[in-house]
Amino acid sequence: MTDARAAAFARLRQLADRPDGRRIAPLFAADPHRATRFAATLDDLTLDFSKSSIDDTARDALFALAEAVGLDDFRQRLFAGAMVNPTEHRAAMHMALRAPADAGLRATLGGQDEDASAIAAAERIRMHAFVDAVHRGARTGATGARFTHVLAIGIGGSDLGPLVATEALTLGRSDTPMQTRFLSNVDGHAFLHATEGLDPARTLVLVASKTFTTLETLSNADAARAWIAEALGEAAVPLHFAALSTNLPAVAAFGILPGNTFGFRDWVGGRYSLWSPVGLTIALAAGWDRFQAMLDGAWSMDRHFRDAPLRENLPVLLALVGIWHVNALGCATHCVLAYDDRLRRLPAHLQQVEMESNGKRTTLAGTDTGWDTCPMLFGEPGTNAQHSFIQLVHQGTRTVPVDFILAANPDHDRPDAHRALAANAFAQAEALMIGKSEAAIRAEMAARGMPPAAIDAIAPHRVAPGDRPSNTILFDRLDAFALGRLIALYEHKVAVQGCLWGIDSFDQWGVELGKVLAGGILPELAPGAATGTHDSSTAALIARFRALRHET
Ligand code: F6P
Repeated sequence: MTDARAAAFARLRQLADRPDGRRIAPLFAADPHRATRFAATLDDLTLDFSKSSIDDTARDALFALAEAVGLDDFRQRLFAGAMVNPTEHRAAMHMALRAPADAGLRATLGGQDEDASAIAAAERIRMHAFVDAVHRGARTGATGARFTHVLAIGIGGSDLGPLVATEALTLGRSDTPMQTRFLSNVDGHAFLHATEGLDPARTLVLVASKTFTTLETLSNADAARAWIAEALGEAAVPLHFAALSTNLPAVAAFGILPGNTFGFRDWVGGRYSLWSPVGLTIALAAGWDRFQAMLDGAWSMDRHFRDAPLRENLPVLLALVGIWHVNALGCATHCVLAYDDRLRRLPAHLQQVEMESNGKRTTLAGTDTGWDTCPMLFGEPGTNAQHSFIQLVHQGTRTVPVDFILAANPDHDRPDAHRALAANAFAQAEALMIGKSEAAIRAEMAARGMPPAAIDAIAPHRVAPGDRPSNTILFDRLDAFALGRLIALYEHKVAVQGCLWGIDSFDQWGVELGKVLAGGILPELAPGAATGTHDSSTAALIARFRALRHET
């Protein structure tokens, strides 16, 4: 299969290398129906990938790759709960977290096959009861005061998913039941910032950690425990803490009550855990109904991904467009511009979803891929990005494919502002594609009466080469359903790309080495401690750090 895959990648490169293989605008001239023929929809959601250099031949070659690697089979194995994460011997069954109880999704765990959707639904009932009790004031802190704030502690997938969703569903709204502070970094300044002005008596601390062994999270949880105990006494701690984890013994050892502990299974990867009890933060902050609607939206994308023919399948198409950019055109980066300020942390979440999943160089067979994999993802909300790095996207030496994300209807009453936002999104995509030629610029300057010498000096700097590709993802409104659907769209895109690249999208061995080395260096930073063996740069930096420290 590797040969068939390599041949399919070679074919993509050949197509891109044709004289016109990177030109976009001529494709529109040649095909008046291009905008609809290179787009796909699911209800109100449209994915327009027509502003790319993919033509019919390239599209066929991309689907030939999908066929060569057995994408259809992979999709079926994923939904059958097969061990699609072989290096960790796990299924990837996060879809069960958003499916109804009777969906019948099963997953392999420790050689056993279990009813994943039923297990997830049972835990959801407990979560719902907990959220209701907190919101009603039936479950309070040690003083009997209602909880008004959540301090959500976690890092990576135990932070970014809940963070992006909570912001998307609460920013600018006055009808949200609780306020949330997120605490991820082990940096003590982050703790100070997260607890600044918080009343411990009214704060519920959620510790989200799949493994319950993560240094940053446990360090912050210890600090939060001390903060609660100092203000309210040690006996208050169990009332103010809840945990979301697969490691129930470690949670119990920390002193969190079973009634405040919500579990999930190893078939949920950390970066897919916002749909699990880790999403309790979202439900507390935005309300249960919105959390449930988010799950429903994701489940609608799951069913579409599972059931729709590959050629009409949004995650598959989004993935293949990305493959074209990486493996045919050689793009090393990918930019996500959400024209919605409430999605300001979406790129951070997608960085983990995409780069922790597919930032790999080893195939499932244990050999080097021999082809490029995941591009570097970055992004900012539009229009802010237009006033910072978008200059490079228009005129830089490298091609940076962009995803523009936009809802047609806002949740505010300034239609003029929303039209301005949308106009900018559409204009950016159009400008990137069509660019502006030197001839057109010279003609414009001449028409304005500029002297030829001034035209010669300035015109080359104003040229925008165009042919810069983008997708546009457009939908009705950023409600909870649409949010869930959008995030699930990217999750499945990543799974498809992992299949096409022949890698394990669900492990993350690359983050281990740094963790291990940090564990070794930590004791060396204590006053008077001996220094271990390091390269001379690291040893010198440790020595310099210790010399600069005001610590005895
Ligand atoms: O950084 C690696 C990682 O394992 C992520 O995959 C995960 O989301 C994060 O750390 C946090 O892990 P945990 O939820 O176990 O604390």
